[in-house]
Amino acid sequence: MIANRTLIVGIESTCDEAGCAVVADGRTVLSNVVASQIDLHARFGGVVPEIASRAHIESINTVISQALAESGITPAEVAAVAVANEPGLIGSLLVGLMAAKTLAWVWDRPLVPVNHVWAHAYAPALDAEPIEYPAAALVCSGGHTALYRCLSATELELLGSTIDDAAGEAFDKVAGILGLGFPGGPAIDRAAREGDPSIVKLPISLLKGQSLDFSFSGIKTAVLYHVNGLPGKRKGKKSRRGPHAERAAAQENAGRGIESFTAREIADLAASFQKAIVDTLMIKLRRAAKVTGARTLIIGGGVSANSALRAAAGELADKLHCRLRLPDMPMTVDNAAMTAGLGFHYLRAGRMADYNLAARATASR
Ligand code: KG4
Ligand code: ZN
Repeated sequence: MIANRTLIVGIESTCDEAGCAVVADGRTVLSNVVASQIDLHARFGGVVPEIASRAHIESINTVISQALAESGITPAEVAAVAVANEPGLIGSLLVGLMAAKTLAWVWDRPLVPVNHVWAHAYAPALDAEPIEYPAAALVCSGGHTALYRCLSATELELLGSTIDDAAGEAFDKVAGILGLGFPGGPAIDRAAREGDPSIVKLPISLLKGQSLDFSFSGIKTAVLYHVNGLPGKRKGKKSRRGPHAERAAAQENAGRGIESFTAREIADLAASFQKAIVDTLMIKLRRAAKVTGARTLIIGGGVSANSALRAAAGELADKLHCRLRLPDMPMTVDNAAMTAGLGFHYLRAGRMADYNLAARATASR
């Protein structure tokens, strides 16, 4: 028995991770079980929605049982069931939502809907000090790239988002072009450590004026053309060059097809791509910090695991004299602890739902 603590059970199934967690007072993680499906989707080079929802059906009961067992609590102690009901893949969302409704009904407890992207912006508060607001939050994941003005955990205003690919999606697609496998983010992060980001020049898109929106499809296409050449204009085999002509060679040899790139050339290209993405994210986060008068910078979502991004964010926060709140590594990926954590604040604010609660592929707010 955990006296005087508000225990929330969270359920997450927005994409290809099925998760259940028990969190006390929006802060202390008692258990956090995630069933990843990476192996199921890897051979397709991306998440296949139908496979994801079917796999959720198979794993969700086990994930819930395990999370409850690991937390050491009994259902009678649970205050509410929080569920990420938006945004995400609709078939995947429905599995978690049905499980959450069932638990809420059987236990006779409130059902609390949580926006999954907002939950990513809450992840740094788990097993850590409360976040100081106002904050500027950058959420960058496989499905979303968004900037928010945060006045509290539950008051977020969208300032900008991607107009095409999400940052993580760009990592995944470029890793595919470079033959590095899926998921692409960790693979590019690893490869980039061996590379020089100054060898290949890639364009970054900041959009017009002081825009806080993002566009990542151009850089993805630039990498594709660098590797395969412009459509219909693939070049011949690489000519051998000395180490001093590295930069010229990198540009000249563009368009050969990835099979003839050396590991070093792939590492250089990965490093250039990663730097371009990180630079773009930092420029926009800096703008958002200025606009919001933020005391805190928050970064969340799968891409917040990126080592170059974490280093650059530290430098930006120092320059702006802001606190930086990054999630611990296990909290960067989709998980239910962040759902339960944010759900605690919604419960306190009286924001519950009835059993008509719908799953939404795009966010309602
Ligand atoms: O937040 P998340 O688990 O799922 C979504 O809500 O989309 O994010 C997954 C994304 C994938 O695109 C993956 O490639 C990316 O996060 N990612 C990374 C790294 N680790 C995961 N991107 C860059 N660098 C990493 N180290
Ligand atoms: Zn996510």
